[in-house]
Amino acid sequence: MNDGRQDGLIYFRDGDLIAESGEARVYRMITNGNEELFLEIGQGHTLWAHSMEWEDYVFQLKGRPHGECLEIGLGLGVASRYILSCPKVENLTTIEVNKDVIEVQAKINPIEDKWGMISFSDRHTIYNAEGLAYMYATKKKYDFVFIDCYDRIDEETLPLIADMAFAAKRLLKEGGEVVGWFDKFTTEDFVTPFFNIFKDDFVI
Ligand SMILES: C[S@@+](CC[C@H](N)C(=O)[O-])C[C@H]1O[C@@H](n2cnc3c(N)ncnc32)[C@H](O)[C@@H]1O
Repeated sequence: MNDGRQDGLIYFRDGDLIAESGEARVYRMITNGNEELFLEIGQGHTLWAHSMEWEDYVFQLKGRPHGECLEIGLGLGVASRYILSCPKVENLTTIEVNKDVIEVQAKINPIEDKWGMISFSDRHTIYNAEGLAYMYATKKKYDFVFIDCYDRIDEETLPLIADMAFAAKRLLKEGGEVVGWFDKFTTEDFVTPFFNIFKDDFVI
């Protein structure tokens, strides 16, 4: 995850706090004439999502989301918008564990609409629940699952990512696919273990 610095600017020092709910805060900062949004959660300045990730989502997901989709981790809703913009997608269910994130995301929704991105619609359902618990509880099957509930890939997060991927594979319809967000700043040691998790024959 990028640390929120752009051209010598830092989002929480040089940007504006535009929405807040409980422990979730969204800042807007203008860099090179572009408006960027940053989501931090909790005490201190822990960055969980930023709007520049749109291009990463396009690169990583292009052509893959289809049919009925599930997403774990709402954040700023950037990936949600991308998934909903894919022509083969019927609907999207997003599971977000933090109620403050859902509320703050709803507050910035009109601001993001102004960018011409696809708006949230009746094809999008957001549930406040823990992702793993939802996946083991639901009877629903999905064509595509996107897991994006971690802020880095390392020895601490890989076990959770593996558990999530295992639970998600059980929910797939025939021909379905599970994809996890790949952090391009991941250290080399964790790259292969990460991608192995999403292979069909991976066992925990
Ligand atoms: C990296 S952000 C997601 C970014 C998002 N895809 C976007 O487009 O902005 C991760 C999100 O996952 C949520 N999260 C963390 N653990 C979770 C869990 N176990 N179940 C569901 N959501 C979780 C966090 O609260 C956070 O909002």
